[in-house]
Amino acid sequence: MDLSGNIVWITGASSGIGRALAVECARRGATLMLTARREEALEATRLACERPDAHRCMVHDVTLHESHAGVLEAILDTWGRLDVVVLNAGIGQRASIEETDPAVERQIMEINYFGCTEIAHVVLPHFVERNAGHLVVTSSVMGMLSTPRRATYAASKHALHGFFEGLRAELHHTHVDVTLLCAGYIQTDISYHSLKGDGKGHGAMDEQHRNAMSAESFARQAINAVARRKPVVFIGGPERFAPMLQRLSPGLVRWLLPKVITRD
Ligand SMILES: NC(=O)c1ccc[n+]([C@@H]2O[C@H](COP(=O)([O-])OP(=O)(O)OC[C@H]3O[C@@H](n4cnc5c(N)ncnc54)[C@H](OP(=O)(O)O)[C@@H]3O)[C@@H](O)[C@H]2O)c1
Repeated sequence: MDLSGNIVWITGASSGIGRALAVECARRGATLMLTARREEALEATRLACERPDAHRCMVHDVTLHESHAGVLEAILDTWGRLDVVVLNAGIGQRASIEETDPAVERQIMEINYFGCTEIAHVVLPHFVERNAGHLVVTSSVMGMLSTPRRATYAASKHALHGFFEGLRAELHHTHVDVTLLCAGYIQTDISYHSLKGDGKGHGAMDEQHRNAMSAESFARQAINAVARRKPVVFIGGPERFAPMLQRLSPGLVRWLLPKVITRD
């Protein structure tokens, strides 16, 4: 589906899913504002996109709430409007609750939860005023269930569902859409960047991610779902059916989870 003429802001565009979403959106004709903390990696994303000169990069940390308005302002100054925001920046976890410093739990919530909701607050008036716009959120299968050593991460993604499902209901009388992308295992550096209990990086690639669906396949399916204005979509390998299994047989899933995922 064609995204020509659409202005799209993607957070966490410097690697993995964010980069693949950028390349896919550009391939379909969108013009992009790419944000993340690593400037060189952001530039690499821009150069990987079709029509690289059409797009802009801005260094931006999703935990610095006062900086969000500046990104929107730059978008409006450059293109006059914003059509789609992809709230994708996120961080994983590789530690049990017992091992995790509460300060690290707050850090994960700051990035994964407030790093999406605070940007939603900033762009929402623009979308409502135009009666058009699309909030796309990169959630996870872990937004529907929780596993050992990912509890805080799962909590941050569950919280996104509470916020954005409620927001969608509040916007039912408008043409502003909300899509939750629930990713299964996708081949990115997420495990490498994930936080251990002391806040240090995990620094290793997990087996599940090494052999998972490519970020490019994820991006194609995700953008198809966005173009069809789907409210929620599950994308990945067989693990994407886990929330459905949990609803059908919660006892079975509760019994299985500690056995399936026991280590990093
Ligand atoms: N890969 C999977 O299996 C999987 C599964 C389910 C959901 N997800 C979700 O997919 C999203 C993207 O993750 P990924 O798999 O592509 O991992 P990734 O390669 O580690 O990418 C994470 C992105 O988030 C950005 N980011 C992290 N902290 C940030 C901050 N404070 N401010 C701004 N940007 C920040 C990083 O950019 P900088 O470091 O340059 O800031 C990077 O671009 C996340 O929300 C993740 O939870 C991934």
